[in-house]
Amino acid sequence: MKIIVEPKYEEVSKSAARIIAREIISKTDPVLGLPTGDTPKRTYELLVEYYRDGLVDFSSVTTFNLDEYYPISKDDPKSFARYMEDRLFTQVNLARERIHVPDGTVAEEEIGPYCKKYERKISESGGINLLILGIGHNGHIGFNEPGVNFGTRTRLVELSQETLEANFEDPAEAPKRALTMGIKSIMSAKKLLLLADGKQKSTPIKKSLTGPITTDWPASVLQLHPDLTVILDEDAARELEDQRGRSDGD
Ligand code: GLP
Repeated sequence: MKIIVEPKYEEVSKSAARIIAREIISKTDPVLGLPTGDTPKRTYELLVEYYRDGLVDFSSVTTFNLDEYYPISKDDPKSFARYMEDRLFTQVNLARERIHVPDGTVAEEEIGPYCKKYERKISESGGINLLILGIGHNGHIGFNEPGVNFGTRTRLVELSQETLEANFEDPAEAPKRALTMGIKSIMSAKKLLLLADGKQKSTPIKKSLTGPITTDWPASVLQLHPDLTVILDEDAARELEDQRGRSDGD
């Protein structure tokens, strides 16, 4: 595990965008796993800037998003499909057929086969080279909530009350379920990049990186990944001991 501690959110985003750009530039057919949430917003802006400046070409990039609410229409402002369209997909030269976001409009009886197909497409693309993750306040990654089995693949899940409250101003109005890559789908990515900023993420980060590996805290499984890079701002890193010493090594 490599932990990089940057001063603030802006530097976290720059560091993340550079790692993603490097992956894209150095691979023939790069396959990225993409998150939503507040954390990666600036990273996406920087990637769009790199594209506009001619530094990064997305034409051979394939993307798979981690998760999506269910049920939800693709142009619902709350949908992750809409988030990705606005922030990245319509802003760079990604090929439409290489973009994959779990479809929140699939009929319920089709979900099983649909999720299998999502996983098959990941395998057929050669697997995810670099998957970027944020972390939920309850230790979820994607929408893998506490109690998740570590053998899970893409599937439909129930969202916890805590997640609904964290993600929606009015949880009563929120979709109560989601489609998400499973823990096994995430852990199968060749490289993982976990981003977190802000003091509200300092306890989740400490539990994830230094706590016991347990299904009660899904992000703790990341300790078992052979190629995990974590980028934190100083606030998110403040509960990690000796953060400075760990900033540029294993
Ligand atoms: C959502 C997403 C997660 C994301 C988390 C943190 O619940 N399903 O993939 O990591 O929120 O979001 P934020 O970056 O807004 O803190």
